[in-house]
Amino acid sequence: MLAASGSAVGLGNIWRFPYVAGENGGGAFVCVYLLSVLLLGLPIVVSEILLGRCGQRNPVDTMRVLAERSGHVRAWSLVGWMGLAAGLLILSFYSVVAGWLLHYLFLDLIVGMQDMTKAGALAAWEHLLSSPGRLLLWHSVFLVLSGGVVALGVQNGLERMVKVLMPLLLGMLLLMVGYALRTSGFSSAMAYLFKPDFSALGASGMLAAMGQAFFSLSIGLGVIMAYGAYLPREVPLPRAAGWIVGVDTLVALLAGIAIFPLVFSHGLEPGGGPGLIFQTLPLAFAQMPLGSAFALLFFGLLLIAAWTSSVSLLEPSVAFLVENTRLKRLPATVVLCLLPFLLGIGCLLSLNVWEATFFELSFFDFLDYLTANVMLPLGGLFIAVFAGWFLKREMLARELEGTSLWVRRTWLFLARWMAPLGVLVLFLYQLGVFGA
Ligand code: PFF
Repeated sequence: MLAASGSAVGLGNIWRFPYVAGENGGGAFVCVYLLSVLLLGLPIVVSEILLGRCGQRNPVDTMRVLAERSGHVRAWSLVGWMGLAAGLLILSFYSVVAGWLLHYLFLDLIVGMQDMTKAGALAAWEHLLSSPGRLLLWHSVFLVLSGGVVALGVQNGLERMVKVLMPLLLGMLLLMVGYALRTSGFSSAMAYLFKPDFSALGASGMLAAMGQAFFSLSIGLGVIMAYGAYLPREVPLPRAAGWIVGVDTLVALLAGIAIFPLVFSHGLEPGGGPGLIFQTLPLAFAQMPLGSAFALLFFGLLLIAAWTSSVSLLEPSVAFLVENTRLKRLPATVVLCLLPFLLGIGCLLSLNVWEATFFELSFFDFLDYLTANVMLPLGGLFIAVFAGWFLKREMLARELEGTSLWVRRTWLFLARWMAPLGVLVLFLYQLGVFGA
């Protein structure tokens, strides 16, 4: 459970949630996001843990073995394959963003945040983005950190830190919320975040909200399935799932509540894009007593949260390669890190010098869109359908033993109908099938 919440809580909550919410108009986005978490995310988390605990293998082999045992085609393992691919694709840009954190940590250590002004914060952000060399350096450092943990097989050590660091991160967020409460932009921020205006959302905003829910919960690619294999039988499945979903959503909402008041009180643009937290948070730290120390703590904690998430993106592929080839952990990790390393270079160049577009998106945005808004929901759809419709009845019953009837029924309904139809409807809506 620690590992799964370590995977779920990361940049997705604190970096991605506020900026994507800002790009999609706030309240209505948050509303669809919360609905997606509850109606699609929660049943898929349950499905993933259930399949993982039942299959006891990496996602590819779990899907294959369970399909075979239930009398269905082995092709279900393709869901696992897509998950492994999605994990490496996400790692490509995730590592670039985690690199930004490293840069800000470094900046804080060298010059501190105390003299940061609005113009200064914007300039610092532009300066970082315009330098491919600097971005590459930090991207590489972060990838080595993540690969190192996976190659050495010391995930447990890192995950144990989650126990202490997660409450600390929550504490820090509460502190930031406390600060935000006293800024002039607080009430406009609350209205922006929690008063939905659906006319501003549209199909792409709804898809983005669903994608954010999947990305933030780490679902649809078999990561939670891989961890589900370790969940002891005594722990009731819905409780484990509820815990992961609850913590993850709480962290995202707190991040939103901490950041948007800063955006509004400094007259910044809510739709300012991926730099949102890097343009706003330093301004808050600049005005706090001991601000530079708090900045160090906050960015440091976020870095560790990003680290545990990135380890979870890489681990299933490495496990698969080690279990199915003669490669040892270290060479398997090196080989698999090559792809995110190279694609990450594409991402960071697309922020400054590389102007090519893919479906009208920069390479960075394209990878983000492809994974969060397409691959994860599609993976989640298949996982829910498999668990709800195709898994052998006896296996299902055994995994759900001890849970109350209404919980079982609700989950079954959500996994069979709600999750697949929800994803499908949003896909079709985005494709314009329901008319313009
Ligand atoms: N959930 C992570 C975050 O919010 O930062 C990102 C992530 C990790 C997505 C692992 C998917 C995944 F498999």
